[in-house]
Amino acid sequence: MVDEQIVNKAISSLDLYGFLNIDVDPTLDLVEEIQKLKKEKNAIILAHYYQESEIQDVADYIGDSLGLAQKAVSTDAEMIVFAGVHFMAETAKMLNPGKKVVLPDLKAGCSLADSCPPHIFRKFKEKYPDHVVVSYINCTAELKTLTDICCTSSNAESIINSVPEGKGIIFAPDKNLGAFLQKKTGRDMILWNGACMVHEIFSHEKITKLMIRHPNAKFIAHPECEAHILEKAHFIGSTTQLLKYTQNDSADTFIVATESGILHQMELASPNKTFIPAPPNNQCACNDCPHMKRNTMEKLYLSMKYELPEIILDDYVITEGRKCIDRMLEISAKAGFKM
Ligand code: 13P
Ligand code: SF4
Repeated sequence: MVDEQIVNKAISSLDLYGFLNIDVDPTLDLVEEIQKLKKEKNAIILAHYYQESEIQDVADYIGDSLGLAQKAVSTDAEMIVFAGVHFMAETAKMLNPGKKVVLPDLKAGCSLADSCPPHIFRKFKEKYPDHVVVSYINCTAELKTLTDICCTSSNAESIINSVPEGKGIIFAPDKNLGAFLQKKTGRDMILWNGACMVHEIFSHEKITKLMIRHPNAKFIAHPECEAHILEKAHFIGSTTQLLKYTQNDSADTFIVATESGILHQMELASPNKTFIPAPPNNQCACNDCPHMKRNTMEKLYLSMKYELPEIILDDYVITEGRKCIDRMLEISAKAGFKM
């Protein structure tokens, strides 16, 4: 008998569809085919805002990490197709162990999750046995087994405030979000030294020049950005919170410091407003996450057709890793966070 986990591991190290020699017929109407497969297989497509706009357009739900986790709990679809990165699909699997969860490209990882290897974190945590571990959801399923409460960029402040006063907190893996939370809550926290490769390279100088050129524009930023960038922001929030801010604020121009995929929904929601992606410290005009952008319409279609690559997790990881997510969802529901 073939061990499914071994097969999946082998698949994950390869370019799956290249390996299987599967080409997608270029004349195929992928939107139509994907819609057909959704019905045929009772599948739901959950997409993060950082996906290509054409993927967002075929998704059933588009959201930030909190909204995506909440949707993964409430869906009655039989197959979850996760257009996002690996840790997000793992979270969906932990919340739905009985369902099939596929990710169009298993190599769609995350630099932030990779910056906190669980075997090293375990040793680090042993030095602070009385501390509560709060981990940003952008971490591996295994790290979640070492975590007391998970958080996302939407609910992080409420989660930190739910930890009893006087109790020490270890925050992993994002040092920038951690520093932002320390400042907001006044809590003393031990921060893991991780960062997101997309949010840590925004250029202070180029953003300053843009703000001078557009004096009436609002500068908005994701809390994964570095402190010197956040200091300049008129508003700081998760991707959903940034999107809502642009809808409700009276400004007509926004300089946006997060991954550029979010601009698609901002432009759809406010067609008369102007959105300028904040430039990074390199030759590019905007900031793309190379992991998020591994997913393509072709891979999305193939993952639905062949129901591969599938997310498979050990039972122990599902049972233990899920606890910190359930805890987060409970606190979020009490604090009134809705999708
Ligand atoms: P949110 O969409 O939850 O704000 O997270 C941003 C992010 O970096 C996801 O990888
Ligand atoms: Fe990870 Fe950053 Fe990409 Fe989000 S944007 S998936 S945190 S590398």
